[in-house]
Amino acid sequence: MFNFDERVDRSGTFSCKWEKYKGKDILPMWIADTEFKVAPAIQQACHTQIEHGVLGYHLPAQYTPANDAVVRWCKSQYNWDIQPSWIVWTPGVCPGFNVAIRAFCQAGDIVLIQTPNYPPILAAPEFNDCTPVHIATVEENDGWMLDFAELEAQAKDPKAKLFIMCNPMNPVGSVLSQAQLDRVAQICADNDVILCSDEIHCDLILDELTHLPAGNHAQLQHRSITLMAANKTFNIAGLGTSFAIIPDTTLRNTFNAAARGIVPWVNILGLVATQSAFTECDDWHAAQRNYLIGNRDYLAKAINAIEGLKALPAPATFLLWVDASKLDLGTAKNVQDWCESRGVGPSPGVDFGNEHFFRLNFGVSRDMLEEVVARLSA
Ligand SMILES: Cc1ncc(COP(=O)(O)O)c(C=O)c1O
Repeated sequence: MFNFDERVDRSGTFSCKWEKYKGKDILPMWIADTEFKVAPAIQQACHTQIEHGVLGYHLPAQYTPANDAVVRWCKSQYNWDIQPSWIVWTPGVCPGFNVAIRAFCQAGDIVLIQTPNYPPILAAPEFNDCTPVHIATVEENDGWMLDFAELEAQAKDPKAKLFIMCNPMNPVGSVLSQAQLDRVAQICADNDVILCSDEIHCDLILDELTHLPAGNHAQLQHRSITLMAANKTFNIAGLGTSFAIIPDTTLRNTFNAAARGIVPWVNILGLVATQSAFTECDDWHAAQRNYLIGNRDYLAKAINAIEGLKALPAPATFLLWVDASKLDLGTAKNVQDWCESRGVGPSPGVDFGNEHFFRLNFGVSRDMLEEVVARLSA
């Protein structure tokens, strides 16, 4: 019914992903947008808005259809009952975690961050005059997981005020279980640490797992900011529309005060697209998940068959974190150079905190993925 096999020509569209290797025979497999067209319902909803013709200011908090759509989605996907008043719209998840640091930390405070991690999360503490303390990711039962013992030890520092968590985790694609989220909640409660949980990938769970939003945890309800968006899942990241869910009134007021004057309202097309994604696209969402599972399984198998490369299949996201530490680089300068010399452009692992890895975005047509595998295997 939906055609994820279609290979859309994005050349000349100034897409961030395709501009990087413009004019070179390198397939861009880096930044996390997919190569898929949005669901027909989203396209239609945007058309309708454009046909109305006026694109002036809109008040996101008062835009009931989008707020109701978020309420519906949280209930249907995670069995989380939220109030529309808990939603704070932000023009991207990145502003969300940067504002959280300004809201809940003083200059010189410690922000806890799991590594490797999405580069803007790694950069955020220093942008806001705070000190990042990195918590390792460890291999556990054939998957990746946060080093809880280290989190527990580092959270004890009285300067540690905020933990920016990423769940599901970019780049490793791990998903926290109930017991693991309980442990995070206990550590935050014991040490009076606020949790800012970046859950932008939470609707991309590929394995038979359930996503557990931080804000729906009894112990975290009054000490968390949950950041979500339809951006990744429904490929509308360019519309810059995300939201924080902050059940606690005091935390929400503090967050809003820190955003005032520097964070603009989200735009009407982003609201309309998000509303459509969360109310009209359940079939498309399920179909994309199936397609991504096929892509992930195919890619992980192919990568593991290449000498010197190893990848643990990600339980969530459309990202594969590839260990190239045993790779014979030959004449290549580094891992990234090795990939690019074969005509494939992944995200450099060094940007996430590990130079021996690279990250492949498998949110692409199967045909493009086969080409990537052929190039890397050659
Ligand atoms: C973990 C994570 N957070 C945030 C973002 C970016 O979100 P936004 O475009 O809504 O700022 C990304 C994009 O890749 C991401 O992977």
